[in-house]
Amino acid sequence: MTVTMNGSPALGDFDGVDLDMLIRQGFRPVPVSGIRSLTAEVIGIDLAPAESDEAFVPGSHIEVAIPLPSGPAIRHYSLLADPARNMRVAILRESQGRGGSAWLHDNLASCTSLLVRGPRDTFGYDGDGPAYFVAGGIGITPLTAMIAAAVASSRDWHLLYIGRRQESMAFAEALVAEYGPEKVTIHITETAGRPDVVSVVDDWASVRTEPTTVYTCGPNPLMRALEVGFEHHPNVSVVSEQFDDEAAVPTRSISRSGGTTSAGLKGLGSAPDVTAETATSGNDKDFVVELGDGSEVDVPADCTIIEALSKAGVRTLSSCKKGTCGTCETVILDGRADHRDSVLSAEEHAAQETMMICVSRACGKRIALDL
Ligand code: FES
Repeated sequence: MTVTMNGSPALGDFDGVDLDMLIRQGFRPVPVSGIRSLTAEVIGIDLAPAESDEAFVPGSHIEVAIPLPSGPAIRHYSLLADPARNMRVAILRESQGRGGSAWLHDNLASCTSLLVRGPRDTFGYDGDGPAYFVAGGIGITPLTAMIAAAVASSRDWHLLYIGRRQESMAFAEALVAEYGPEKVTIHITETAGRPDVVSVVDDWASVRTEPTTVYTCGPNPLMRALEVGFEHHPNVSVVSEQFDDEAAVPTRSISRSGGTTSAGLKGLGSAPDVTAETATSGNDKDFVVELGDGSEVDVPADCTIIEALSKAGVRTLSSCKKGTCGTCETVILDGRADHRDSVLSAEEHAAQETMMICVSRACGKRIALDL
C-alpha cells in the first residue's frame, strides 16, 4: 500500500508500513519552503519548522527519510546558520553514493514536504576561548552556524575553508563577503595543493594567550591530520565530526583530542569505542525484548537487538550500525539498557529513556521497547 500525505511525493512514496514506522520513530512532515541551486553539485533546501520547534544549537543536524526503492533511507544533514529560524540544509550530489542525495536532487522540485527528525546536536560546540574552524568541502555546513554563534558572542575566530575548486564551494563568496578575508581563508587545492593544516592552525593558535579549540568537518584524512597533529598539544584541542552519509557504511562520528578537554560534551568520552565487530562480546548474555504490542523477541548472546528484530520480521531504522549516528534510537518502556553507543551523553545514558539498539543491550533478562 502507498500512502499519500499532504500531496507530497516525498511522503506518498513510502510504503504505508514504513511510513507508520517512521512516524512512530519520531519523523514528522516539515514543509519545504524553498529550493536553491548553490553550485552545479549542491542544492540548498529551506524547511519551515513549526513555531513550537525550538531554536537549534549550532552544529546540529536533522535526519531526512528518503523513499529509495530498497526501502526508507535515513540521511543526516547539518543545519546552516539561519537567523529566520528556518531549517536550511545544503546537499551535495554524491555521484558515487547510494542514491539518497541523488534522489533529493532529482525529486525535490515536486516535494511539498520532507519527513524529518531532529534537530539534534552531537557536534558539541562550546562557547569559550579562541576558535579555529576548518572545513573541507560540504563539511562547511555545520560550521556556518558555529561561526554565526562565535560572531554573536564576540569570540576570537578564524575559518579555513578548503575545496577542490572555487565553483564547487557553495559558501566561499558569501562567507568572505560577510566576514571579510581577514577572518575567512579560502584554500583551493586544485591550484594551491593540500594545505599543511596543522602548521596553519598552530601559527594562528601560537599567538593567542588562551587555549584554542579547532572545530573541523570534512573528509576523514583532513580531520585525522588535525587530530593526530594536535594529539598531545597543550593549548589546542580538536573537535571533529565525520559526516559520510553516502559511504558504504554511513557514519556520523565525533571525536575530541588535544590539550584541553571539556566535560559534558554530548556523545564524547562517555561510552566505549564500539564497532560493528565489538557490538557483541563473549561475555554477553541472551535476553528478551518486549515490543509495544506485547509480543516478544529473543536476542541471543551473539546477536544485536537490531539483528534479532530483523530475523523476527520487525522493521527498524538503522544507518551506521556502530552506535555512532543515532538513527536507531529507541524509547525504553521498561528495564535498563547496557549502553554501548557514542551518541548519547553520560546523562542520557543514566536517564535510561532511550537506547541505540544497533549496539546496546539489556542489563537484565528483559527490556521493553517502543517498537
Ligand atoms: S544505526 Fe547508527 S547508532 Fe544505531
